[in-house]
Amino acid sequence: MNIHKSTPHDAAKLHVTGAARYTDDIPTPANCLHLAFGLSDVAHGTITSVDLTAVRAADGVIDVLLAADLPAGNDVSPSNHDEPMLADGTVHFVGQPVFLVVATSHLAARKAAALGTVKISPLPAILSIDDAIKADTKFEPPIIFAKGDASDAIKNAEHTLSGSFEMGGQEHFYLEGQAALSVPNEGDMLVHSSTQHPTEIQHKVAEALGVSFNAVRVETRRMGGGFGGKESQGNSLACATAIIAAKHNRPAKMRYDRDDDMIITGKRHDFRMDYTVGYNGAGFIEGIEFTQYCRCGWAQDLSLPVADRAMLHSDNAYFLPNAKITSHRLKTNTVSATAFRGFGGPQGVLAIERVIDHIAHTMDVDASYIRTANAYANKSRGLKQTTPYHMEVTDSVTDQIMIELLEKSDYSKRRELVKWFNHENPRLKKGIAVTPVKFGISFTLTHLNQAGALVHVYSDGSIHLNHGGTEMGQGLFTKVAQVAATVLGTPLSSVKITATDTAKVPNTSATAASSGSDLNGMAVKAACEVIKQRLTDFAADHFKTTADQITFADGTVQIGKQVMPFAALAALAYQNRISLSSTGFYATPKIEWDRVAGKGRPFFYFAYGASVTEVVIDTLTGENRILRTDIIHDVGKSLNPAIDIGQIEGAYVQGAGWLTTEELVWDDKGSLKSHAPSTYKIPACSDRPDIFNVALWDKGENVEDTIYKSKAVGEPPFMLGISAFLALSDAVAATGDGSIYPDLDAPATAEQILRAVARQKGQAWD
Ligand code: MTE
Ligand code: MOS
Repeated sequence: MNIHKSTPHDAAKLHVTGAARYTDDIPTPANCLHLAFGLSDVAHGTITSVDLTAVRAADGVIDVLLAADLPAGNDVSPSNHDEPMLADGTVHFVGQPVFLVVATSHLAARKAAALGTVKISPLPAILSIDDAIKADTKFEPPIIFAKGDASDAIKNAEHTLSGSFEMGGQEHFYLEGQAALSVPNEGDMLVHSSTQHPTEIQHKVAEALGVSFNAVRVETRRMGGGFGGKESQGNSLACATAIIAAKHNRPAKMRYDRDDDMIITGKRHDFRMDYTVGYNGAGFIEGIEFTQYCRCGWAQDLSLPVADRAMLHSDNAYFLPNAKITSHRLKTNTVSATAFRGFGGPQGVLAIERVIDHIAHTMDVDASYIRTANAYANKSRGLKQTTPYHMEVTDSVTDQIMIELLEKSDYSKRRELVKWFNHENPRLKKGIAVTPVKFGISFTLTHLNQAGALVHVYSDGSIHLNHGGTEMGQGLFTKVAQVAATVLGTPLSSVKITATDTAKVPNTSATAASSGSDLNGMAVKAACEVIKQRLTDFAADHFKTTADQITFADGTVQIGKQVMPFAALAALAYQNRISLSSTGFYATPKIEWDRVAGKGRPFFYFAYGASVTEVVIDTLTGENRILRTDIIHDVGKSLNPAIDIGQIEGAYVQGAGWLTTEELVWDDKGSLKSHAPSTYKIPACSDRPDIFNVALWDKGENVEDTIYKSKAVGEPPFMLGISAFLALSDAVAATGDGSIYPDLDAPATAEQILRAVARQKGQAWD
């Protein structure tokens, strides 16, 4: 059995030696053209004139295109056809591509792009959440989820609290930037793209060229990180290269320089969350109202489902008897925000965690009590456990995990030590916090929950594996290869992992929503089972035995008393004209969802976890460190414990980065000022917790029938980073007399912490 083992990532050695081939590493074909975009430097305006004379005259330039020069479609939107690849008369954000330069080298294209003169007559620009609320610019009317009567419950509650809380966006900072290479072939197009969604690339390229889907083939071997930033943001590069490759009948390649990548592509949505909560003397929430303001940017992209997922996670792990969640999807003249690990979930979770923290602070009790008391699995209130969207929660284990973790991490004792430390130290202050996560698994657009696979067994017994999922470092290909090897009873080394290819498996969904191994694992299992069944039937017939006498294990097949290598059976089956190739298909059962009504079962199941983080802040500078983190996370029965632990560690650090040092700064003209690692700080190795204890929950088992009883792991642990933020808030609270709840917005940069400390101490600021 290959499954449930800590098999190394299939490309681990290639990653660390630099031998892994990413899109930009594919040997550039002879005659290849290189592309760059010329960008808008105005947030909103009408293009009055474009002078490209200097661009055309620049060294190495072959061609320059404006929107009017495009052959067919001019849209790179994943959903709404509202996102021209090149601006068509109006610009909507600083950094929007206006013209496309084609040159003989990457550098020549970039240098020439800087020489264009685009005159833009400015229009009023809506930049911030406040601007958008004032101007009432939205992508759709507010969406409301309601359960019970929240306003009545709040009115009648013993205590109430209100607040408003802002959280910033996040740059994906995948190490490999966006890239595409298109190679024309007798009128057809082969596109190599760094994308989580090869099928969408195929569709957008076909639209851009005015051809049918079967004239475009998209191949993706791997990405150097995607994190949601390569669900839709690769469309522009793929379309641009394909258009040029078709026009000039030469290969064409494009990759964004890091600054361009950060300016042109979408990021995590920033939010403002207003809340009012009513609770009783024991800290139980009676009713809650959230108003979520989501800054979507200028085009729709994936904002509607992202904002939906923020609403769907506004309960996190807590039972809310009466709830009303209102969501505003704001349209602004900033880059169109996109998918980012958690897909809006983290924003929803952070808001309720902040509310719970606020309640605990006001009651002057440890927040861990309020958390465990309100957790779904706590049946002490005898109420039916439904979410604000009326889905029953039947599998909650958060209170179990939290209680186990509090004990294992020595929380109570450390809470006392933190108090003692803070009493003894006037300048340094420590904080500690525990937060849980409950994350819904499935695409909320129900039809996306499907996957296909294609498996060949060759006559030497070697296996060629393909499926619709993409590899971005998360280990999907390794897990799925483990599935194939397990079903066919062969060593993992017999399975050849191959690039995602729209010509092998069609009509695929993005590798997203953490569902890659759930969906593709099942599809591959189905394909392998078909082949195994054929081999079994053949062997039973050929060796005059029955199917129950035949087993596949360790690269051999036991047929009655006889044992033969898997390869020998494959060869024999071939000689007897048995098909050794099969497709496989899977569609997630049990799910249905009405997003406008806010009712249904959008998720097949939930993934759970909890983390405890301890931090220290310097009250004179705002500097801070994570001292220790303890995590227990539920991955069901892990497909690959080493890879899952890696996912949890990475997700936690990325989540903590979002809420601490990663700050996106725009100036008052809407221009992004933090567009390089010099100004945008992601966590480094040295920022990880000094003590970092990550454990898979040993009682984990998926109650639903998922691939070998595992649970999705890609996104859920991202939200464990929230414990770092609330630990910082706890440390800030320790600088005052306990009367003021820290109004720490996210990210809690050193400056933010210093400001919050000043407020605790009643000192002037600004
Ligand atoms: N892990 C690595 N190393 N690199 C990534 O880009 N993306 C995350 C997560 N883990 C990512 C990652 C995101 S946003 C998702 S949705 C899932 O992986 C997608 O893969 P899966 O469905 O196979 O878990
Ligand atoms: Mo992940 S944000 O669903 O790509």
